[in-house]
Amino acid sequence: MTAFGDVVEAYRIPTVVRLTDNLYALSYRLMKMIPARHIMRRAADEGLLEPDTTVVETTSGTFGLALAMECALTSRPLVLVSDPVIDAPLRRRLEDLGATVDIVSHRAPGGGYQPTRLARVAELMAGLPSAFCPQQYSNPANPASYALVASLLAEQVGQVDCLVGPVGSGGSMSGTTSALREAFPDLTAIGVDTHRSVLFGQPDGHRTLRGLGNSLIPANLDHRQFDEVHWIGAADAYAATRALHRKHALFMGPTSGASYLAATWWAARNADALTVVVLPDEGYRYLDTVYDDGWLRGNGWTGGGVDTAPLTVDTPLQAGPGWCRTLWGRRSLAEVSGAVVEVAA
Ligand SMILES: Cc1ncc(COP(=O)(O)O)c(C=O)c1O
Repeated sequence: MTAFGDVVEAYRIPTVVRLTDNLYALSYRLMKMIPARHIMRRAADEGLLEPDTTVVETTSGTFGLALAMECALTSRPLVLVSDPVIDAPLRRRLEDLGATVDIVSHRAPGGGYQPTRLARVAELMAGLPSAFCPQQYSNPANPASYALVASLLAEQVGQVDCLVGPVGSGGSMSGTTSALREAFPDLTAIGVDTHRSVLFGQPDGHRTLRGLGNSLIPANLDHRQFDEVHWIGAADAYAATRALHRKHALFMGPTSGASYLAATWWAARNADALTVVVLPDEGYRYLDTVYDDGWLRGNGWTGGGVDTAPLTVDTPLQAGPGWCRTLWGRRSLAEVSGAVVEVAA
């Protein structure tokens, strides 16, 4: 008899979908189930989880949901530290899965919530008898978990010439790229970020496109994996998300749309190369926003398009306000921006 797995086991594996002759999508229901399961299983194997250990993590997005699913399945207490930007439907879902959602109220001087959230995680952990923090930004088990995806791609697609995907913690793109390069060393890796995210050398500031970008440099972001970086704003990402749905009936979130925009552009200019684009989550969470024309108009998120092209810039500081790209050339952040780089723990 087939041994069936639980919901995380069953849903975490992405589906490969053909978009054009040379562009395939790696479509996830919820990509973060891959690192969430891997990190929790490793922690259990390493004896880091007592029966009463509380899991504490900072997240306002899909890693929290994946952890909440994992913790619900193992009856483990979970506290998720988030910020006021968290959307109400996600919060309801997290709480329904038994997680406690702890909201920080103030931003760090640079404009982001992440430093405040990390400080709150440390405070909560210090007050608990037994606590474990998965640390998706620095735990090497996050990128390592994507070796599974690289094997799947090599098996199902064969040679992959270019991988395009959004970057937040850096885990998925750094991990999938490094594992894929064991088979395909010439693979081109394109990271998709957004303006005023510090990940690839832009100054910190208010970001409207969520789910990618960061106000801290995560240790799990391996800059040397990236050949090219694109900065895409909310209007372009939302328009591309809708185009992905209308044209290919793929109902995905806005980080998928941003990646689709960069990938279609690159694939059209590299007809002999096979490009794979990472689509990290489904569209349900965004029905009242990205998929609502009234909301888009009301917030001024119109005018984005998929028929546009990026402006190529020499340095990250030149990127913006529109869609921009730079040839990163597998360099470290310090090599590109000349900045002294402080990596978050
Ligand atoms: C919807 C979505 N897309 C993309 C990403 C970026 O993935 P990673 O953290 O592996 O860089 C995230 C990260 O949380 C996400 O929630």
